[in-house]
Amino acid sequence: MAERPSSGASNGGTDLAERRLAERRAESDVPAVIQRVGVVGCGLMGSGIAEVCARAGLNVVVVEAGQEALAAGRRRVEASLAKAVDRGKLAPEGRADALELIAFSTRMADLADRELVVEAVVERFDVKAAVFEQLDAVTGPGTILASNTSSIPIMRLAMMTRRPEEVLGLHFFNPVPVMRLVELVTSLLTDDTTAVRATDFVEQVLHKRIVRSKDRAGFIVNALLIPYLLSAIRMMESGFATAADIDAGMVEGCAHPMGPLALSDLIGLDTVAAVAESLYDEFKEPLYAPPPLLDRMCEAGLLGRKVGRGFYDYNGRV
Ligand code: 3HC
Repeated sequence: MAERPSSGASNGGTDLAERRLAERRAESDVPAVIQRVGVVGCGLMGSGIAEVCARAGLNVVVVEAGQEALAAGRRRVEASLAKAVDRGKLAPEGRADALELIAFSTRMADLADRELVVEAVVERFDVKAAVFEQLDAVTGPGTILASNTSSIPIMRLAMMTRRPEEVLGLHFFNPVPVMRLVELVTSLLTDDTTAVRATDFVEQVLHKRIVRSKDRAGFIVNALLIPYLLSAIRMMESGFATAADIDAGMVEGCAHPMGPLALSDLIGLDTVAAVAESLYDEFKEPLYAPPPLLDRMCEAGLLGRKVGRGFYDYNGRV
């Protein structure tokens, strides 16, 4: 497990949870490591999650609603694997090996034998809720049902199933093959065994770093990141500065890998707006409310890199 910097401040609940996890890990009833994974949704996040699982040698089933979305998801995985080979992060034969481990399907029933299913569909409660109902029906006890939601409280999704003790949040970051972090979110009803199995999976199989968050909209990262992105959008909207200068300010002045408007384009403006809505619903803080420019851009379909245009024009370079 990666070393963690110790914090001077007390975080009682989290320490207790960590101690409980360590105790449960030592007990013999914690089931073996996860090897069969399902991913529902093969957009930006789902394709990345499927890719990192296959690159870790796991057997993966990806489910999408239709053939067209499935084919686009497959192309996304292929392009990312090719990039990993180009950048020297993956041996050329690793590309074919990873692809061979992923089965693409439009049938939820194909997830029946999975030990873990990660839901990564669009950031809308009604859509995610329907997926959780179906996952509950097609998988049996012992299958962990995880959501990659960016902001929706896990409790709300868990209550769509008959086994909320096996539901938790595993929040990956975009681009998934590059970003090391996963937020692990347990609800009031998540069982310790579920949390132990998911922790071991992320740390020991995917070799990613976990941070644990209480079940509050936005969790840790988006509760901090989204108000920052919204502030940049308001700054641009008010004519205070240009998009290029706002981004250059944060890249050159604060050593961020990209500025807030370019990052919004990378995340997808529809996702940024959806996360902002979830945060606003939960906390009613004005700083979480999506600014009008963001709403107008979403209505116009200017959703960022994935469509070729957002705050910047990508001329087909998505
Ligand atoms: N597999 C493995 N590694 C890959 C890869 C792939 N498919 N594609 C790229 N890489 C590696 C490259 O080899 C390179 O590694 P190196 O630093 O060791 O050389 C590194 O990733 C950077 O790749 P590139 O050179 O292609 O790209 P850039 O240097 O332009 O960086 C970026 C692109 C990684 C997107 C960088 O700009 C960045 O980190 N931006 C910030 C991203 C961020 O903040 N993401 C979080 C968004 S919030 C979120 O997702 C939560 C959601 O809920 C909203």
